Amino acid sequence: MQKGKSDFYLRRANIDDMMLFFDWVNEKTVRQNSFSTNIINIDNHKAWFEKSLKNKDRYIYVLMKDDLPLGQIRFDVSNEEAEIDYSIDRSYRNKGLGNLIISLGIEQISKDCNRVKKIVARVKETNVYSQKCFLKNGFEEYGKISDSDYEIVEYRKS
Ligand SMILES: CC(C)(COP(=O)(O)OP(=O)(O)OC[C@H]1O[C@@H](n2cnc3c(N)ncnc32)[C@H](O)[C@@H]1OP(=O)(O)O)[C@@H](O)C(=O)NCCC(=O)NCCS
Repeated sequence: MQKGKSDFYLRRANIDDMMLFFDWVNEKTVRQNSFSTNIINIDNHKAWFEKSLKNKDRYIYVLMKDDLPLGQIRFDVSNEEAEIDYSIDRSYRNKGLGNLIISLGIEQISKDCNRVKKIVARVKETNVYSQKCFLKNGFEEYGKISDSDYEIVEYRKS
């Protein structure tokens, strides 16, 4: 796979992506790196996905190369702040796409929602690969939050 940024693009997620997102959300590492690690059942996913697509403060994009979906990035906007969630399809990891999807995602959310001034990411301390992606994209460590089971590192970029 070439790494030229121009080969890749983001498109808004749509209802036809329901099962693609279902597969992605239940992939083992995605569950491990989430704050709630339980497997998500199809009924809950469908309800969440349909509601999410209608939510005006939620922006979900799919990273594409030609017709191939490679990963997803979501921004939940509240006032001037947008919180990121993202993942890369496990077959395409460790090729620079985690880094790329954040970079393209920030460009896109700035165009689609111009009230966003600050991007926030909360990452499990054990998720080193994701932390590298945020640092490479100019995020700074803002602080740590302790949950009963794990530590979360908060990153911010203005
Ligand atoms: C986190 C995630 C999105 C990273 O995507 P990716 O495409 O693999 O990331 P990149 O290829 O851009 O790699 C980022 C860094 O991690 C390193 N890395 C990634 N996978 C690696 C592996 N298997 N072994 C060693 N290093 C690895 C890369 O070398 C790179 O390091 P560098 O900045 O020093 O060059 C991906 O692992 C994923 O989808 N994980 C599950 C969901 C998740 O954790 N989402 C984030 C929630 S906050």
